[in-house]
Amino acid sequence: MNYICEHFSSIDSTNEEAKRRYAGGDIREQLLSADFQSAGKGRNGRSFYSPENTGIYFSYLYPNPENEPIGNLIFVTTVAAVLVCDAIRKVTKADAGIKWVNDVYVNDKKVCGILAEVAYQDSVPGIIVGIGINLSTTDFPEEIQGIASSVGTFTDEELRKIKKEIIGSVGDGLWQFFRNSGNAAYKECILSSYREMSLVIGREVSFGTENETEMTGIATGIEEDGSLSVKLQNGEIRTLNSGEIHLKLLR
Ligand code: BTN
Repeated sequence: MNYICEHFSSIDSTNEEAKRRYAGGDIREQLLSADFQSAGKGRNGRSFYSPENTGIYFSYLYPNPENEPIGNLIFVTTVAAVLVCDAIRKVTKADAGIKWVNDVYVNDKKVCGILAEVAYQDSVPGIIVGIGINLSTTDFPEEIQGIASSVGTFTDEELRKIKKEIIGSVGDGLWQFFRNSGNAAYKECILSSYREMSLVIGREVSFGTENETEMTGIATGIEEDGSLSVKLQNGEIRTLNSGEIHLKLLR
């Protein structure tokens, strides 16, 4: 694997640092990690709570050396969720799973968020994959107390080892993804892992957008493009393909 790693004790946001570097002419494939983020960014303009030492916050920058067109970022986020879930299971033995679209959960609560973004160097788009994992965080802000949690309780020494191993495993997996993204067998392998890790299939879910009334049904499967099929109470099958749709697990 040929990417560089750099660690910060404190930074505003590893995604923003990767963006600044790329825009400023840095074309090294790189992984930037931090012990603390003062302005961690989440999806849809939200912030990502990133307190000191209790989590892993990192971003992988793919500089797109051949200036290839960048498709939608859903698949890279799916790959990252599979890599994180696999690394948490292997390194910590926690029973992690993926809630559609791409949040990693332990004990029915979110422990990891992923934010993929496009960055620009002149007009050449690169990809930034930002990953935040709550390892042993306990003091969540009130507004996320009901949904966020941590992987477990660890000593400082265990935390150091877990961070190193998870970052290495996910970083190497992303390096491989960027060399295999057009490979059908690779894609099938990721989808099959994603289905095995899914916490949603077979469960009763409710879903909706901000302007829509909530609907309820049973999640029946993950399609080839990563969309989620849900069988409604009237037998109709709905295919959900946007992360803008919020989804709740009911039973
Ligand atoms: C989400 O669940 O809304 C996505 C959260 C992504 C957080 C990570 S932490 C490392 C990287 N830097 C950021 O500012 N955000 C991402």
